Amino acid sequence: MAHIIDGKAYATRLREEIGRQVRKLREHDLVTPGLAVILVGEDPASQIYVRNKANQAREAEMASFEYRLAYGVPQAQLLELIERLNQDPAVHGILVQLPLPPQVDAERVINAIRPDKDIDGFHPINVGKLGTGGQGIVPCTPLGCLMLLKHHLGDMSGLHALVLGRSNIVGKPMANLLLNEHCTVTIAHSRSRDLQAECRRADILVAAVGRARLVPGHWLKPGATVIDVGINRIEEDDQARLVGDVDFASASTVAGAITPVPGGVGPMTIACLLLNTLEATCRQHGIAFPAGIMQSAWGNDACLD
Ligand code: GUN
Repeated sequence: MAHIIDGKAYATRLREEIGRQVRKLREHDLVTPGLAVILVGEDPASQIYVRNKANQAREAEMASFEYRLAYGVPQAQLLELIERLNQDPAVHGILVQLPLPPQVDAERVINAIRPDKDIDGFHPINVGKLGTGGQGIVPCTPLGCLMLLKHHLGDMSGLHALVLGRSNIVGKPMANLLLNEHCTVTIAHSRSRDLQAECRRADILVAAVGRARLVPGHWLKPGATVIDVGINRIEEDDQARLVGDVDFASASTVAGAITPVPGGVGPMTIACLLLNTLEATCRQHGIAFPAGIMQSAWGNDACLD
């Protein structure tokens, strides 16, 4: 049976360590990191995400600012709010929950966020820095996946990594992160010819396509490390269930290690949002980012750098 990578436990430790660092900053009268989250409309899933983000920011003793705008809000009003937050010294990170309603141009909105406050890492400046191996802000979900992989595998040089999915939020940044770790990277997507053959070659599989149980165990290379980003709601045996993009039951008999859904990647995403907010705060104030933060969160067995 595969080792189960407990993202929930890792995320808890990381959040606690972030909380300790935030307290340290305050005790030295330096600064309180501030996170502003903007939600447009009333999509139930987005409401839950935004509430969780704000609650966890407060638990880590950050300042949390929430803005809820009506579904029909004019784009200009949203851009005005972003500009105000760009200028506000109490706000170090700005997140606009996606998706946005049709009257709003998401690209325009993302481009309006100051790159050093773009804790989602979606601004073209941050995307470009990731692509060139620079020190930008990295999107939270792929960053969380990378931490779990590094913790489990250590050095990933030369390993074959397959990223299933090519979204701007997960697939593309994930591929760049793995490339920076010296993996041989393949990106597969809905038009790829032979997914099974691609999976079979992969020492590392990151699945982020949003298709329930797309990958069965027999597609995997025995011993592979599987990171399942999918969160798919299905009805089964008259019950609502959350399942990943990988069929956990069969995959866990073939893989060497696998993240569960729920309790794998999901909790890491918010922990990384807080980490990005802390890092953005430090950069904006010229404070050295606590380099050992990941090692402290992971304990002495850490292989993160
Ligand atoms: N919607 C789904 N995932 C994300 C994310 O990582 N950031 C934002 N801003 N919106 C999302």
